[in-house]
Amino acid sequence: MTRQPNIHPRIAAIEQQLIAWRRHFHQHPETGFEEHETGRYIVEQLQGIDVEIQHPVAQTGVVALMSNGDGPTIALRADMDALPIQETGDVPYKSTRDGVMHACGHDAHMATLLGAATALDQLRDQWHGTIKFIFQPGEEGFAGAKQMIDAGVLKDPQVAAIFGLHVWNYQDYGTVGVKPGPTLAAADEFEITVTGTGGHAALPQQTVDIILVAAQLVVALQSIVSRNLDPLESGVVSIGMIRGGQTFNVIPTEVLLKGTARAMREEDRLLIKARIGEICQGVASTYGAAINLNYHDSYPPTINDAQMSSLVLEAARVVVGDGAGPPFLSMGGEDMAFFLQEVPGCFFFVGSAKPEHRERPAPHHCAHFDINERALAVGASVFIEIVQRIMPGA
Ligand code: NI
Repeated sequence: MTRQPNIHPRIAAIEQQLIAWRRHFHQHPETGFEEHETGRYIVEQLQGIDVEIQHPVAQTGVVALMSNGDGPTIALRADMDALPIQETGDVPYKSTRDGVMHACGHDAHMATLLGAATALDQLRDQWHGTIKFIFQPGEEGFAGAKQMIDAGVLKDPQVAAIFGLHVWNYQDYGTVGVKPGPTLAAADEFEITVTGTGGHAALPQQTVDIILVAAQLVVALQSIVSRNLDPLESGVVSIGMIRGGQTFNVIPTEVLLKGTARAMREEDRLLIKARIGEICQGVASTYGAAINLNYHDSYPPTINDAQMSSLVLEAARVVVGDGAGPPFLSMGGEDMAFFLQEVPGCFFFVGSAKPEHRERPAPHHCAHFDINERALAVGASVFIEIVQRIMPGA
């Protein structure tokens, strides 16, 4: 365990409020593009702060503009949505909604951003310029960031850099993970429908056995990462669902497969996508089956700007000292990627594991997910340090 974080005094003074905000969001979760109450609550909490509020943006999002003289415009971003998960943890601030839960920590992101806005409003002598506080809906598969960009949140005034964070239960409290370049994966989805002439299992010569075809496909798709991708780069092709057939002695007429394809670089993403198409065609002609591929481009890889990443690392060192360093990486996807395609910036990770998670891990998207709430003050302090570095006061 690293030393105790150096929480910014303005954040330390309101830490209990940050925790209260997080608990309110946690108790009242809403899924993607349903965040109506969440958006209204954010607007209410911003009332005491000198900001210009736009709401709703992209259906349920909120943008708060804090102007403070001449200087660059930067954006700080939080996501708002919860997941369709029934919370099983026994915490006093448990979700009050059946089957909906903040199981990824977006409640913490909103609370952190509200805390940063409150403190930066009081610290106007220490920075110059304009800050856009972006609360975006629908991160969990709805590409809410893209809709916010289409709604113009990066323009008027034009955003020069953007920063966002994720609480990260794979890292201890008191750490901040920062990495230049690819940080999270492109995460695409695909569906493959295999059709053929079914029939009696005892007369396979009269059929096209699409169960065999589907099995060949599953195996052949694994050759993409092992044989086509540069072994020094990262990619994943996983089939998560196969559905076909009714009973033991009938060869079916349709098999459905669903899977995900992930890569850390755009070129590898395109390679994997192209190879999935080629393998489907090749297997179809080999076995005489019809194979239809439906490939959905979902989130691009999350790529951090090198310069902005070193600025965030510097900011994080002030708060957590040696606890700042490379993050725990995964092939997860994140729609912050869309913002980072438009403007330079950095998406970083704030360690939020509780001591008991060593015995019983509570990973993101699990039904007993919970965080060390002291991570909120760490994240908000890093935001303040970033602002003071990128748009210093007189
Ligand atoms: Ni998340």
